[in-house]
Amino acid sequence: MKELRDIRILAIESSCDETAAAVIHNGREVMSNVISSQIELHKLYGGVVPEIASRKHIEKINQVIEEALKEAEVTLDDIDAIGVTYGPGLVGALLVGVAEAKAIAYARKLPLIGVHHIEGHISANYIENKNLKPPFICLVVSGGHTHLVCVRDYGKYEIIGRTRDDAAGEAFDKVARAIGLGYPGGPKIDKLSKEGNPDAIVFPKAHMEDSPYDFSFSGVKSAVLNYINGCEMKHIEYNRADVAASFQKAVIDVLVENAMKAVKQYDMAKLAIAGGVASNSSLREAMKRACEEHGVQFYHPSPIFCTDNAAMIGVAAYYEYLAGTRHGWDLNAVPNLKLGER
Ligand code: KG4
Ligand code: ZN
Repeated sequence: MKELRDIRILAIESSCDETAAAVIHNGREVMSNVISSQIELHKLYGGVVPEIASRKHIEKINQVIEEALKEAEVTLDDIDAIGVTYGPGLVGALLVGVAEAKAIAYARKLPLIGVHHIEGHISANYIENKNLKPPFICLVVSGGHTHLVCVRDYGKYEIIGRTRDDAAGEAFDKVARAIGLGYPGGPKIDKLSKEGNPDAIVFPKAHMEDSPYDFSFSGVKSAVLNYINGCEMKHIEYNRADVAASFQKAVIDVLVENAMKAVKQYDMAKLAIAGGVASNSSLREAMKRACEEHGVQFYHPSPIFCTDNAAMIGVAAYYEYLAGTRHGWDLNAVPNLKLGER
């Protein structure tokens, strides 16, 4: 009989524009991680088109799962549980993964574990940092979410700050579009910023007086758009690299300041970052520096585990599995699922 120490989870992620499957051994070892990105398709429209995303997931999901099993050199006979993202995300996209996970779990009589997408992002930190254990503070910065989370224990989260408007990644994508960089904007701004001066233009940094851990990025986004419009009206050519670098600095400064405030206030020795924007090179450098100054241990996943993937879902599913979480055949996609809900 298999011991509890020997658990393999097949994980599925389809909440947005990546169809992904992975096999995770004992919560921390990635046996395979297959990602089929739809970025090239959505680029044509300047952003993710939900209807197209759902259809592509349907086309790809079986193939991606087969590849994940093959790469891990296992069959479904070796799998102990199925983990799947069931929210938050695009409802049609989520439904594809959830239906697939339910079908496999039912046919193979395996436990089904629904995973919160953000719990997945946070758990990505456990993959390469084998010694990382809660408690710690995690800054989650993705295309749809900007949360400061106090991770009390595996599966126990307290959201201590959130964005009041745009998510950080959304702001990157909108500014990138305004300066003609295309979708997805985050990686392009990251790259172009290296050629620009981050102090060239002073864009506003929002601090919420009533909540020191909340964020707001619509002000800085509007300031960039106003700056560009102003230049265009005066027929002045602006330096795109300077705009990108100055915008990026305004966003990163606030992310770092709030994260450091949280670490201090909650008396934590560890800080982790997660989500697509966590792969931003300047954010990683700035956070590393700030953590060194404050004597805090800094953790971050490799870029491939920052953007959407199924390995992170498998890791989160493993800890939920150990905690006894099991979902029934009535598991549904929950587009606005709250962190910590079951
Ligand atoms: O986590 P993710 O793959 O999907 C969501 O759950 O939303 O995050 C995607 C977001 C996009 O907004 C993308 O522009 C941003 O992450 N992103 C970046 C970088 N790489 C991806 N933002 C800034 N710098 C990057 N290097
Ligand atoms: Zn994500």
